[in-house]
Formats: sequence, structure tokens, C-alpha cells
Amino acid sequence: MDHSTQVGIIQKLLEFNEQRTTDMAGQESEYFNPVTVYTDPERLSAELKQIWYRRPLSVGHVAEFPKAGDFKTVQVGKVPILVVRGKDDRIRAFVNVCRHRGTVLEERETGHANTFACPYHAWTYGADGALRHVPDDFGFPEVASDKGRFGLRELWSQVHAGFVYVQADGNAPERELVDWLDEVGKDLQDLGLAEYVALEPSTVRHPVNWKLPFDIFLENYHTKFTHRTTIYPVFLSNVGKFDSFGSHIRCVLPRREITELRHIDEAKWDLVEQSTLLYVVWPNTMIAVLPEHAAVWHVYPDGVDHSTMNFYALLARRLYEAEAEAEKWQKSLKVIQKVKREDAARFLSIQQGMNSGGNSALTFGRYEKAIAWFHQSIEEALADSEGDTPQEVPADAPTGTVAR
Ligand code: FES
Ligand SMILES: [Fe+2]
Repeated sequence: MDHSTQVGIIQKLLEFNEQRTTDMAGQESEYFNPVTVYTDPERLSAELKQIWYRRPLSVGHVAEFPKAGDFKTVQVGKVPILVVRGKDDRIRAFVNVCRHRGTVLEERETGHANTFACPYHAWTYGADGALRHVPDDFGFPEVASDKGRFGLRELWSQVHAGFVYVQADGNAPERELVDWLDEVGKDLQDLGLAEYVALEPSTVRHPVNWKLPFDIFLENYHTKFTHRTTIYPVFLSNVGKFDSFGSHIRCVLPRREITELRHIDEAKWDLVEQSTLLYVVWPNTMIAVLPEHAAVWHVYPDGVDHSTMNFYALLARRLYEAEAEAEKWQKSLKVIQKVKREDAARFLSIQQGMNSGGNSALTFGRYEKAIAWFHQSIEEALADSEGDTPQEVPADAPTGTVAR
């Protein structure tokens, strides 16, 4: 983010703080989000079709794949995906399904493998997806003579600013990632996160709709109450600056000491030093950026009332390698873990509240407008008829008859 944009945001935050206000929606009313948005299975089917299969999804960071053969698996709706770094250093994504009779190929969440052998009959694939070995291949003369046709089905994938993006539907139109990410892509690039190391990875399945963690992430109205002893002492309460770029979101939440900048030359102002930057790389990723470290969540729906949250922290290599700094950043990661638990307690509780039928809608106030934006982007995608294109059979799909 260029310095003049940082100064503009800081000036706005100082003004909000002095006037005891924050960034608010233009319209003079709340946004009411029907509970069915979080509880209706048909709604999830529409989201999968219109959003999850058809948009670039951030599924990881290059630091999770430092060596050839390092892999990670994710599940996007019905599509199991294997992401792996090849010997040529490229990170690729494949449908994680064996081309023989369709067993899920790699069942571990992360790991390292030079080859991927199917657990059923051991058809074996390289990290580039190529079919390498078929046991007793005299039973498969066509496959044996033309293995190139039976490699893993590759999906569109790209790396940008250190994050790996995948599109789960191989037939969906490919998007230009730089255009898709807009200013958020530029910010992530400027922050230099590509060079960071990844720490404390975890994957947790929660009994909540996938959108609830985003609702919690996108406002700091709750900081004073939910995070009373963890981050409330450090951050201004319910003061923030919201910006949207396409469907993506940036919220800036200022630290208390930002008020001291009034007495410091603007040329020395640094937004990252004085705030936490929250990004939603729509639809599935949340990134909280702090000085020299970050927290990342990739969220996936797992049924209408379950979701999988894949978390990791990112740390600047300089900090990671400086022994004298270890205590400081380890303490900060501990706070992040505690805040994560505080937030998880809330979204678990909200899903219970919704399942109870007690409310027919959730109310988002004017300063919870980032949440409203997040949901409006979903509404727009659901209304987008582009998603109605029928699935095509892949051009190289084998055909044939069974001799009797
Ligand atoms: S299903 Fe994979 S080897 Fe048979
Ligand atoms: Fe929170």
C-alpha cells in the first residue's frame, strides 16, 4: 500500500476516534440477514455451484511447500484437491482422485511424498500428476501404452504474493488472478508475505456454517466484550476503516498508540506498525496482518452446518531466525491462539442460537458494514447466471465399450 493511502487511512482513523465514531454504512439502517442463509442446505448447494467451484480460492501459502513433494489436501464441496510442489518447483493442483476406479488418492492433510500410490491397487502418480506405474499392467493394455492420458486431472492454479490459488471446477472460466485480487493482491504483494515462514498449522472441523467465522472476523464492535483481556487493552474499540475491492475486503483496526501519531511527522507514519490489517480474500480466506507476522485462515464448507478451518501463522524470516526475538513472537502467537478460541466460542454459540429458531434474521449494525458487504457479494454471485453453464465432459475423457 503506498504511503499516501496509509496516511489517508490513518487520518480517517484519528478523525473517527476524536469524533467517537467509525466507518459506517451510508444507509441509515441496519442490514438484516436471514438465518436461512446459514441453515438452508439448498442455499449451500447454490453457493457451491455459483461460488466455490467457479472462483479462485486461496488454499495455502508457498511456505507450506518448501520442497518438491510437499503437499496439502483440501476438500472444496465434492471435490477433493491435492496441491503439491513438483520437481520443477511449480506448485500444481489436481483432483485428488485415482484415474483407475476413483479412490481418493492421498488421504493425509499434509505431508511429503515423491510419488502418490493409490491405496486400492497402487496405481502410482508423480508430483507432476503423471501416471508412473500400474501394477500388472498387462490387464490394462490401453492405459499402459498411453499413460499420458491417465495422469491426475489437473486444475487451474496460480501463486500470487505467496498464496496458492486453485479453482475446483476444471471447466469454469479461468480468471486473471491479478485482476480478480484487485488492490488486495497489491497490498499482499507490498506486505512481502511471500517471504514469510509458516508456523502452527492446524485444521479443525467446526459445527458452524462457513460464513459465520467471517462475520466474527469483520467487525471490532465485539473486541471490548469478547476479547476484554487479550486485545482490547491494545486496540481502540469499535474504530476501523473499511474498504472493498470487488468482493474482497480490507478492514484496518487501529492500535491505541495510533493517537500518538498526531505529534509525529506524517512522513514517518506506518499503518502496519499502528494497526491490524484484516483482509478477506473472498470467498474463503481471512488474513490478519500484524507487524512482521500474520494469521491466515482458509475456510471450507463441510455441509450447511459444518466447516473446516485451516489455520497457520506467518512470520517474517528475520524474526524467525533472530534468537533474541523468539520470546516476543512466541508470546504474540499465543495471544493469537487465545483470540482464536475466544472467537470460536462465539461462532459456535451463534450457530446454536440460529438452529434454535429463536431469530429469523441476524442484525448487522451500520458499523458492521464489512459483514454486510461480504454477504452482498455472495448474493451477487448467486444471482450471476454465468454459473448456469452445464458441466462439460472433459475432452480427453476415455470412452469405450465392455466386451461380453
Ligand atoms: S482405484 Fe486407484 S489403483 Fe485402483
Ligand atoms: Fe474477534
